Amino acid sequence: MQAEDPRAAGNEGIPEEPSGTRAQADTDEGRPVGPTPACDFWDAIYQRRSIRRFKPDPVPRELVEQVLHAGIWAPSSCNYQMWDFVAVDDPAINQRLAALSSQMGNAPVNIIISYGRDFSEEAWANIQSASAAIENMSLAAHVLGLGTFWITQTGDRERVRETVGLPEDRLVIAVLALGYPKLVPRKGPKRRPLREVAHWNHYAGRAIPSSVRPQDWAPDLLRTYQRARVLNGLRHNKPRAWEQSALGEALARLLPEQTPSEATPGAGSGGATRPVWLDVLPCTGILTERLARERQSHAFEVLERSPEVAEFCAARAIPRAQVRLWDPDQPQLPSGRYARITCLYRLENLAEAERTALLTRLGEALAPDGELLLGFVNARSFHNPMEWLRSRRGGPRGVEYVLSPDPNIGPFEALRSGQIESLARAAGLRVVGAFGAQAAPPREELEFRTRNFGPRARVLARGIAAALRVLDFVPGVPGRWGRFQYRLLRKA
Ligand SMILES: Cc1cc2nc3c(=O)[nH]c(=O)nc-3n(C[C@H](O)[C@H](O)[C@H](O)COP(=O)(O)O)c2cc1C
Repeated sequence: MQAEDPRAAGNEGIPEEPSGTRAQADTDEGRPVGPTPACDFWDAIYQRRSIRRFKPDPVPRELVEQVLHAGIWAPSSCNYQMWDFVAVDDPAINQRLAALSSQMGNAPVNIIISYGRDFSEEAWANIQSASAAIENMSLAAHVLGLGTFWITQTGDRERVRETVGLPEDRLVIAVLALGYPKLVPRKGPKRRPLREVAHWNHYAGRAIPSSVRPQDWAPDLLRTYQRARVLNGLRHNKPRAWEQSALGEALARLLPEQTPSEATPGAGSGGATRPVWLDVLPCTGILTERLARERQSHAFEVLERSPEVAEFCAARAIPRAQVRLWDPDQPQLPSGRYARITCLYRLENLAEAERTALLTRLGEALAPDGELLLGFVNARSFHNPMEWLRSRRGGPRGVEYVLSPDPNIGPFEALRSGQIESLARAAGLRVVGAFGAQAAPPREELEFRTRNFGPRARVLARGIAAALRVLDFVPGVPGRWGRFQYRLLRKA
């Protein structure tokens, strides 16, 4: 593609229109076909929300066409307008789309947005142009009383293209689900504040790293990123069955529920009768929720980096947990307070110095007979090879996807048990119990991870994993090579 040529972007022949008038039907020029409802521009900008639950009512085609018209009035690189939109309102075709990705099973209309595959030589101009059209359509739909959500998780985009009969030289960029909203979110997900993201003349901020290496993340950037992600929705942080089952076994073996007579009140708990349990950097609070439900003999506290994330996690526990803040520059925790502490897959998130500081403070915060359960992902397991294979397959590679296991947000580095043991020693702790699980990926995980494979690759991957699962029954193997490792620590 050539450089942007102002002549190519000609609007010759399109008459100037006095502002404020409504255009007449003129489909050739791509103007609205009917009267368009008036809407304050700023209201449209600020009140549009992604809608994910729709009424089943069909959307009149005139309205869909108004939305599409708004799309073609978006800017496009060199004004080439190499977009093609297919609005699917046939339930049978929508069903076939939904089979490719359940996201396309929500709305009565799915608009497939495609662009000329080869018009992308300059800075992904095809994606940029199509995205401008999508945003125009989303705003237009909002003004028309409709709802949309922008879908990139379409499954195999080539199959989407084939399903709607787009030619091979069209690249499916995204799908816009469209319909009458059933559920409108009361508030939009939070935005990162303007002062953090916008600068005058010269960038004067500190960018959030795109690296998965913990040492590349300063603690305050991790705090900013996790706060943004947790408060903006937990789409990537669903509880995973395989992670939950490993944790279930570890809890049963290493931290069984105490009877009330065994449970000793936490020191300094201000007259509380229940011993206090601290869950460390729970981030999404998915595991805190479970721990609080299963260990009701304890009063829960959460230790987090920001008040917002701490409150979010605390609210997931029933009854609500108390909140404590972790500041690695001033790491303070009440000494000897906690009967139990859990730190589950969190050291992998932290740079070396913070790992040591955190574990040392946790050691001090344990009650004299308190117990700390440390869970970590074993670097000497199938975890790293599986991550390597995943990145080779060309799947999504953003930082948010590399994080494993879920729930985890930010950088991630699997650890070796030797590293954990020396960290524990340095923190004045000793290992009193150990448990390891999953020397091979469990069946449900394999099913999940291979769901988008072709039939042959899927059979092959599942067959290999099934054979490897024998390892889980060989004494000593999961304990040493299992992906999930747990250590029970006490004061030395
Ligand atoms: C490029 C892009 C891709 C998106 N992909 C998806 C998606 O696959 N699934 C989904 O539920 N939402 C998707 N969204 C919607 C975003 O999650 C949503 O815009 C964001 O959370 C902000 O919420 P709001 O649109 O209500 O302001 C996407 C948005 C954009 C811009």
